Amino acid sequence: MPPETITVGMRPDWLLTLTWAWLALALPTACCLCFINAPYGRHNPGTWGPLISARYGWLLMESPAVIVPTCAFVWVHGWESTVMLVFFLIWQLHYVHRAWIYPFRLTRISSPMPVLLMLMGLAFNLINGSLQGAWLFIHPTIDSSAWFGDWRFATGCVVFGLGLAINMDSCNRLLRLPREKPGEYSIPHGGLFRWVSCPNYLGEIVGWLGWALLTWSPAGLAFAAWTIANLVPRSRAHHSWYCEQFPDYPAKRKALVPGIF
Ligand SMILES: NC(=O)c1ccc[n+]([C@@H]2O[C@H](COP(=O)([O-])OP(=O)(O)OC[C@H]3O[C@@H](n4cnc5c(N)ncnc54)[C@H](OP(=O)(O)O)[C@@H]3O)[C@@H](O)[C@H]2O)c1
Repeated sequence: MPPETITVGMRPDWLLTLTWAWLALALPTACCLCFINAPYGRHNPGTWGPLISARYGWLLMESPAVIVPTCAFVWVHGWESTVMLVFFLIWQLHYVHRAWIYPFRLTRISSPMPVLLMLMGLAFNLINGSLQGAWLFIHPTIDSSAWFGDWRFATGCVVFGLGLAINMDSCNRLLRLPREKPGEYSIPHGGLFRWVSCPNYLGEIVGWLGWALLTWSPAGLAFAAWTIANLVPRSRAHHSWYCEQFPDYPAKRKALVPGIF
């Protein structure tokens, strides 16, 4: 199908510039995160100031990712376009869980996080949520249901679904661990943990790559780049930590990508 049948409107220059600048910022962020671990969970050195419970930290910092795109969707009456409605539902499938269900699945003894980190996460979600809302609903790249017949949409949906399934399965396995052995970390088993230390991060990255494909938007691409920038260094840090803490840690397990890294 020719792209002009599914591509509409012109995006303002400022939005394009802002989005590419945001995408480019992922690279220096990844470099910093190779030297400084984001200070939460096992990598919190305790020197980043006041703390907030993990539950309320996740709830507060992730909520803008639900609310901001919803405002944009409602603003433009997005339900009147089937494509926008489908994008909105796919986005919320992930984010309603992450922002409003996941925090209540954490045990009360989950490591608290620095307020500063929560504020950084909140700022990230405000920017990212605004970009997704702007590109999907306010200045849409795609607003014809002809897009549902495009290979990018179909492939993106499969990749997104695969990523979500891997992420959910791995999160479920991790969240069971503190209930089995309260107050201590243990070696996760089963699912993709057979091959990698951080399948939840692998699922997250795969999922947002799928999102970039299925929405075919610079905002989707920028989010996938930021997810890689955040989670590749963190998976390496988690993997090294496991290897140091557990002498019996499975030697063949990689950090993030089975058999490779
Ligand atoms: N898109 C992005 O850029 C991005 C960025 C960060 C996170 N995320 C997503 O957010 C979710 C949570 O991320 P996270 O960094 O908190 O993941 P994580 O470090 O794997 O931890 C997830 C939960 O499991 C617990 N846990 C992990 N390993 C454990 C073990 N070996 N033994 C006992 N408990 C263990 C953690 O407790 P503690 O907190 O006490 O360690 C935490 O409550 C993930 O699905 C991730 O993909 C996305």
